[in-house]
Amino acid sequence: MFYRSLAAAALLAPAWAAPAGPVPAPAMLKARQSDAAGPVPTPYGPAGSSGSLRGPESLLGYNPSNPVDVDTSIDIPPADFELAPGQTADKDLGLYLDLSTVKNPQPIRGGSGKVPTDPGPRNTPMDRQNSDLFAPPGTDAGDVPNAKWPLALSHNRHGLNGAGFARQQSVRELPISTAMAGVDMRLEPNAYRELHWHKANEWSLLLKGSARLTAVNENGESFVDDLQEGDVWYFPAGIPHAIQAMESGVEFLLVFDDGSFSEDNTFLVSELFERNPTSVLAKDLRVDTTAFDNIPEGELYIFEGTPAPKNISESNVTGPAGSIPPSGTYSYHWSQQPAYEVPGGNVKILDPLTFPVAKNFAAALFTVKPGAMRELHWHTTSDEWNYIISGQGRLTVFVAPESSRTFDFRAGDVGYVPVPDAHYLENTGTEDLVYLEVLQAGVYNDISVAQWLGLTPKQVVKDHLGFSEDTLNRLPQVKPFILPGHKNLTDTNYKEESE
Ligand SMILES: *[C@@H]1O[C@H](CO)[C@@H](O)[C@H](O)[C@H]1NC(C)=O
Ligand SMILES: *[C@@H]1O[C@H](CO)[C@@H](O)[C@H](O)[C@H]1NC(C)=O
Ligand SMILES: *[C@@H]1O[C@H](CO)[C@@H](O)[C@H](O)[C@H]1NC(C)=O
Repeated sequence: MFYRSLAAAALLAPAWAAPAGPVPAPAMLKARQSDAAGPVPTPYGPAGSSGSLRGPESLLGYNPSNPVDVDTSIDIPPADFELAPGQTADKDLGLYLDLSTVKNPQPIRGGSGKVPTDPGPRNTPMDRQNSDLFAPPGTDAGDVPNAKWPLALSHNRHGLNGAGFARQQSVRELPISTAMAGVDMRLEPNAYRELHWHKANEWSLLLKGSARLTAVNENGESFVDDLQEGDVWYFPAGIPHAIQAMESGVEFLLVFDDGSFSEDNTFLVSELFERNPTSVLAKDLRVDTTAFDNIPEGELYIFEGTPAPKNISESNVTGPAGSIPPSGTYSYHWSQQPAYEVPGGNVKILDPLTFPVAKNFAAALFTVKPGAMRELHWHTTSDEWNYIISGQGRLTVFVAPESSRTFDFRAGDVGYVPVPDAHYLENTGTEDLVYLEVLQAGVYNDISVAQWLGLTPKQVVKDHLGFSEDTLNRLPQVKPFILPGHKNLTDTNYKEESE
């Protein structure tokens, strides 16, 4: 609203609105207090308000006439909380603590001596989900940057008319994720992620449903393909593309090779047409200016579409240059690649050796059985961006020289481990843990701690770590990738044959 004068503004302002100018400072209140007898008035409060906004000067510092209550105990009696299995076991054993159902969970770890309790305030559901932060293993030490971002904490941008949504993770949410950013996107049946292009390279795993993708490259070669759950696509920076959900609808994960990427800053065809003079557009497409009477106002971004033809050949538009050849194609039907099976789970790798267009994206999809663990390892040349597809797990990041921290993850959470920090991922749930690792690398690579030691002279290993002959003999010479384990994580008497 525009007011002609300040006086008019004052007349129009509701009775409870503060007058222009700063809120009275305590010194001014004090002046009023000494003028008036009785409680400090509340000159600007709404009807029914009482009390004063600020307290008296007598509360400053030590004052014998305002005694402090130091006698009330806030200890939580043991009868008022429960301990999870393993919570009193040795701290350095660092067993996973399942706090999901115990009554009034406490940050207790280890059995001897004094244990801390938490009288609050607290967000108990978060404490239950993050037991390794709440009651860290004794081996955690020092400062480690946050390595976890639940996409459940990201703002969810809805498409037009309920056509879908997108939520993202970038350096704005997780500051260490400088090399990669991620997006979780949903398109309802037949909806589009509109025709667009962007500055970063885009690698994607289709999580649920199916979609039809179209793109055109610099040579005038075209691309069309249908992808299903578990398939991957890649669009290089600048290549214009669109994604349309098939009748099943679709949800997918996008990974960009720029931690500051924003899904809200892509180049959209709707904006391209809105941001150029109509006469120029008419000249460009050799049509009359009325051709643009129906272009959308504002972004389409995610919007409803007409169903794609069932027969993909009807969506295949080729010019003289034909289709993009397989060596440069933008999709890989990863769902149809058989997994490499190991005791404890399986793994599939997809990197430029088999998907050459995605020059710098190396991914591994791990399925880790209950109780099993993705082995202790690190990557030599790239940060790791990861995403939990199902189940739950925990991961300790070890950072030189002497810090480590353990984080708990669930489906829908993003994890980020900077190169070359050591880490593992242990399944802490009762179902399979399925998760994706993405590296910026020409070949998927990792260093396995077990294999490293297995390929080092026993005398050298023994001199460093004091291992027994039996332990030295167990060290593998081949990467295990995943180690099996007892489904009961607090039972440390695991015997492989017992599984
Ligand atoms: C599209 O047409 C090209 C050229 O005719 C052909 O090589 C390609 O296989 C077609 N693709 C599909 C999905 O039909
Ligand atoms: C799909 O469409 C193409 C091109 O129109 C046609 O040649 C082909 O027979 C169709 N396939 C099926 C299964 O209908
Ligand atoms: C897991 O093992 C611990 C230690 O042996 C035992 O106390 C606990 O009852 C077990 N939990 C289940 C669910 O079997």
